Order: sequence, then structure tokens, then C-alpha cells
Amino acid sequence: MQIARTVEEFRALRASVPALGVVPTMGFLHEGHLSLVRRAKAECGAAAATIFVNPTQFAANEDFSTYPRSLERDLELLRAEGCDFVFAPDRVEAMYPPGFDIRIAVGGVTTMLEGAVRPGHFDGVATVVAKLLNITQPTRAYFGQKDAQQCVVVRKLVRDLNMPTEIVVCPTVREADGLAMSSRNAYLAPAERQAATILIRALRAAEALFQAGEREADALRQAMRAVLAGEPMAVVEYVSAAHPESLAELERIGAAGALLSLAARIGKTRLIDNLVLPPA
Ligand code: PAJ
Repeated sequence: MQIARTVEEFRALRASVPALGVVPTMGFLHEGHLSLVRRAKAECGAAAATIFVNPTQFAANEDFSTYPRSLERDLELLRAEGCDFVFAPDRVEAMYPPGFDIRIAVGGVTTMLEGAVRPGHFDGVATVVAKLLNITQPTRAYFGQKDAQQCVVVRKLVRDLNMPTEIVVCPTVREADGLAMSSRNAYLAPAERQAATILIRALRAAEALFQAGEREADALRQAMRAVLAGEPMAVVEYVSAAHPESLAELERIGAAGALLSLAARIGKTRLIDNLVLPPA
């Protein structure tokens, strides 16, 4: 596995393979990230991961400075997966040099859900993903369904800017008790870790109602709220039953199916999760 600390070093590595699958990450890797690397390697022959905690997608009150970092361990995990290349810029200035002055604002799908509670977040994501795709020039780039709205934003970015990369969305990897894997789970104290399962239990309750024939989106949102209300440690930010592409809140679940999603704080830790409902 070869490690590039600068854009120039990565470009030289990229030129050595005909096709490349790229997995953009912020590091502190877990099985969710590694599942994307495995898929990239299997589908493209060569795989690369990028590791960069991107300051422009964190608001001033968010956890940029304390975001967990573990480069040496991450590199070991990637090596064990047969990852070919890693782009891990050695300083923030490698991505944002003096004079850097551009922001990509994806419209429409960024105003609701995560975008509503994290203003500017998706500008930061779109800008850094555009840079990472330009630097790594992937045949395919792999993203996790865990961050459903991010997947919608990245697909739109690539489509609207005619970027020649195919975006592949991979299933959410979960712990045995259903908690979606996340680098931020490391923040959870044992009692909070227990309480955090309320997110998937809320989603599954709504999914069960849907499977039993419920089609009213409000009933599904209420079912999620009712389950979340049973966990005193959870402070709910939003629950949603939305169109999977426009992300507009639905009245009824119909031919497009739905994206059920929610965000909640457990103590100081902010967690998100989602499930996709098939066409009704
Ligand atoms: P990060 O949170 O490190 O996630 C990197 C990729 O791993 C994302 O595509 C994310 O959706 C995926 N992922 C995270 N947890 C997952 C899980 N449990 N199952 C499957 N996939 C999972 O998302 C980011 O970084 C950043 O916003 C980034 C795209 C790198 C831009 O800075």
C-alpha cells in the first residue's frame, strides 16, 4: 500500500492504474468504511481511500478539533483490506492553500434534514468531495447509505458538474444490536451506547407499521417519535419520512418509496440513522 501526503504524490500513483475505486473518509475507520474499500477493490481492481478531517464541513460549534483521529491504525486496517493507495494530506493547507476561495453550494436537497440543522455543512461536503474527486480521478467513488442526504448531494454534484465518476452507494453496516457504525460512536459512555440503539428501534418500528400496510407518512413519523420518547437520554432533532430523491416530506408513501431518517443527541453526541422503504 502506498501513501501519498500531497496532491502531486497521489497523481503519480493514480497514473499507474487503469481504473480506480475511491472511498473518501475522515478516518477513524470502522467496518462501515472498510466495507466500501472492499467493494471498491472488488469492482475496480485497484482501491484508494482518502483520509482528511475536512474543517469546512464543521460549524464553529461542532466537533472539528475533537473529531477522533488514528492515522496509524487506519493505515493498518486499509493495508489488511488490500487497499492500494491512500491520500492522507499532511496538513489542512495541502487542501486549502492560502488564497483558496471557492465554495460549491448544491441547491434544493441541502435545505432540509441535516442541511436545516447544520447550515453550510453540505457546502463544505460538496466542495471537499469535488476536490477529492478531481485529485483522485476515480472510475467509481463509494459512499455509505448511513449518510443518505450526503449521497443525494454527491450524486447531484457529480451530475450537475459533469464529473466523469460513477457514484456507488453501499448499505449501512451495523453493530450486532443494530446501532449504525459511526466514528462518533467512540464518544458514547457505556450508558449512552446502550441508549443509542433507540435510533434503529424507532426506524424499525416505523418500518414494521409500513410493512403492516400503513401508508400515511405522519403515522410513520409519529411512530418514530413515540419510540424515541421512551428513551430519556435521547433529545430528538428531527424525524422524517421523505421522498428518497427530492427529500421533500411525504404525505403518503407511494411509488417512490420513502427515506425514513432521524437525528438525535445522546448526551453530547449527535447521531443520525435512516432506513429506506420500498415502493408501496
Ligand atoms: P466519514 O464520516 O468518515 O464517512 C466516510 C464514508 O463512510 C461515507 O460515505 C459514509 O457514509 C460511510 N460510512 C460511515 N459509516 C458507515 C456505515 N456504518 N456503513 C456504511 N458506510 C458508512 O462522510 C464523510 O466521512 C465525509 O463527509 C466525507 C464524504 C469524507 C467528506 O469529508
